[in-house]
Amino acid sequence: VTDARAHGDDGGVERFRALLRARLGLRFEDGQRETLSATLIRRARASGQPPASYLAGLESEDAQLEVRALAQELTVGETYFFRNAEHLRALAEAALPALGLAESTRRPLRILSAGCASGEEPYSLAILAREELDRAGLPIAIHAVDINPAALERAARARYSAWALRETPPDLRARYFRSDGRDLVLDRDVRAQVTFEERNLAEEDEAFWRSGAFDVVFCRNVLMYLATDVAQAAVARIARSLVPGGFLFLGYAETLRGLSRDFHLQHTHGGFYYQRRDGALEAPPPLVEPAMSAPAHPARALPAAPPDLSWIETIRRASERIESLTATPRAGSALAGVARQHFDVSRAVELLRNERFDDARASLAELPPAATRDPDVLLLRAVLLTHGGDLAAAEALCREVLALEDLSAGAHYLTALCRENAGDRADAAEHHRIAAYLDPGFSLPRLHLGLLARRAGDHTAARHELAEALPLLEREDAARLSLYGGGFGRANLVALCRAELRACGGGS
Ligand SMILES: C[S@@+](CC[C@H](N)C(=O)[O-])C[C@H]1O[C@@H](n2cnc3c(N)ncnc32)[C@H](O)[C@@H]1O
Repeated sequence: VTDARAHGDDGGVERFRALLRARLGLRFEDGQRETLSATLIRRARASGQPPASYLAGLESEDAQLEVRALAQELTVGETYFFRNAEHLRALAEAALPALGLAESTRRPLRILSAGCASGEEPYSLAILAREELDRAGLPIAIHAVDINPAALERAARARYSAWALRETPPDLRARYFRSDGRDLVLDRDVRAQVTFEERNLAEEDEAFWRSGAFDVVFCRNVLMYLATDVAQAAVARIARSLVPGGFLFLGYAETLRGLSRDFHLQHTHGGFYYQRRDGALEAPPPLVEPAMSAPAHPARALPAAPPDLSWIETIRRASERIESLTATPRAGSALAGVARQHFDVSRAVELLRNERFDDARASLAELPPAATRDPDVLLLRAVLLTHGGDLAAAEALCREVLALEDLSAGAHYLTALCRENAGDRADAAEHHRIAAYLDPGFSLPRLHLGLLARRAGDHTAARHELAEALPLLEREDAARLSLYGGGFGRANLVALCRAELRACGGGS
């Protein structure tokens, strides 16, 4: 760091960060500047140049060797066999049958492992193929790519520590690995089933990403390291290269929300994954104008009593995708790369916050006709319908929103509230779970999951969900709370969450 300071303002760290983004697609946060600075100094020294000349060299076309060295140093290669095994079960039991690769086609099933690191993921797929899919007579080709050449060398050696097999069922370990000293060596036939290639997901290659090239893509725990626009472009390439209805698996904590509208969300076997929309890259069909029923009565005043479980029934005044409902759409907002007309709903939102529901409805009615197909406007209408007590109509509007944009956490949350109201707790929980997955910072679905679990007598699950909800509620976006919170402020919601947590034996 001292060295860096000696080289002017930031020692070239910002330029280095921009170059890493341009060359490798990687995103580095402000908190990682020290690491970047140390790497820059070390690499510059190794090349026998001062940082400024080293950086100039990195900009040139023939910096390929150095870019590879940086990929080795700066990528995160954490992985293990049978990671998130629910994905593998979903692949074998739901995705592949859904793809309906008819026996008659006889072409191999093509799976891509994008960001395969040292090979554990594609080899797990190959083992799965032998265990489950070969039996179905399906030939399978697995291709694996990564930007880190050192990781690919380890993949080619296929020697692993016991730690890499920590989630591998003992029978599979016995069948497909042999011990050699402290290492475990993968079976030759499994190795032969995977081809590896050094490839940068941030780079376009039309031949590789050609239409219909893959049936299934695993790109788990990779997008989280990429700059947003790089991740958007990578997902667009993946969408292009998948057959219609093809599947995409992301890491457990990753979502496509804000990155792509080309996929439907799937939730089976306890895991989330995505399916390319049929004709995913075409515009969605126009929708019929929703029937807007007037509210039977203005929304009731909020209960003055401290919140308790009855709050579930009153929280109908739900709401929406906050980022697009507040004021002007932000440049660089989540879906900036996806062409979309924006309608100014800020006045309607303001009226809604002031509980002037009729005026809010009137304000939405003044929007241009095209607004009737806009997911944000539709959802806001759904919120207003909940205030009028017309939950069936609200739920129908949510369905329209989800047909346009099934990654809308707000529409899933609102659907969940409608399902709760209809007494369908299983469906309600499913939609809350999806909302919480799509937007991990969204506190209210977690809170509801906790309340639902407590009602069902599952105190362990209730404690888990409520403990997750509490810190999220404490820092939840204020505007989102005012739209989604059923009229309750943060303090009330936090108090409710604490009380519920205590009631099921958790919290302080
Ligand atoms: C955390 S590992 C994930 C391994 C495996 N997919 C899993 O989920 O266990 C992330 C991998 O992504 C690779 N990666 C990062 N940026 C990449 C890029 N631009 N192109 C290709 N691979 C990249 C890294 O080299 C690393 O091996």
